Amino acid sequence: MMEEFVAFETVVYKASVKSIKEGKIDKEILKILDVVCDKYIEEAKKIAQESLDKRYEKFGKEVGDKGLSYHSTNELIDDIQFQVFNKFVLKTAENILDSQGFDLTNHKLKYTEMWVQEFTRAGGGHHDTHIHWNNHISGFYFLKCSDKTAQPIFHDPRPGKMMTQLPEKKEELITYASSKMVLKPKPGDLIMFNSYVPHQFPFDLGVEPFRFIHFNIQALPN
Ligand SMILES: [Fe+2]
Repeated sequence: MMEEFVAFETVVYKASVKSIKEGKIDKEILKILDVVCDKYIEEAKKIAQESLDKRYEKFGKEVGDKGLSYHSTNELIDDIQFQVFNKFVLKTAENILDSQGFDLTNHKLKYTEMWVQEFTRAGGGHHDTHIHWNNHISGFYFLKCSDKTAQPIFHDPRPGKMMTQLPEKKEELITYASSKMVLKPKPGDLIMFNSYVPHQFPFDLGVEPFRFIHFNIQALPN
């Protein structure tokens, strides 16, 4: 048996966080944030209306809001109702970076972005593969989802490995050979990862409501 020295691996973290303790009180964060986010999604829909109105002009056909994902602004960072959640996630991000071996003595973590988004029920909502440059930890918090909604896909961030990728014995398993992994979230699931990990949401068919919070955190020098 050969000794293994593991490095350069990609870790994606997932936990069910339906409530968070604030002093002695268990705050039902999933329910609270979902209700609070209604107004942000309504606002996002109003903002999107202008470009939706132009669609008929552009396509010469009624396409409604097919393919759209309604994004809120970053107001969530400062929303008082989000403070318990935001503090919890920031501390979790610090724990993750610390456990990975990073020295944060001279850095402080700060949100750069946090928004809620909801995919259209007309179907076709999606996110192309992307990373969040100039950030260190990114994540999702799922408010509405099911086994019928889109599932996040994470891709191997190492181009050197991808250039020489061999076939995998079983693509559905997460192994050292994996080129991507698909996670199946449930409402209340918090998923976090290093911001350099490419991620995407494939086409959502709009069968059931799909709403989640997405955030990015940066470690700034003191
Ligand atoms: Fe993202």
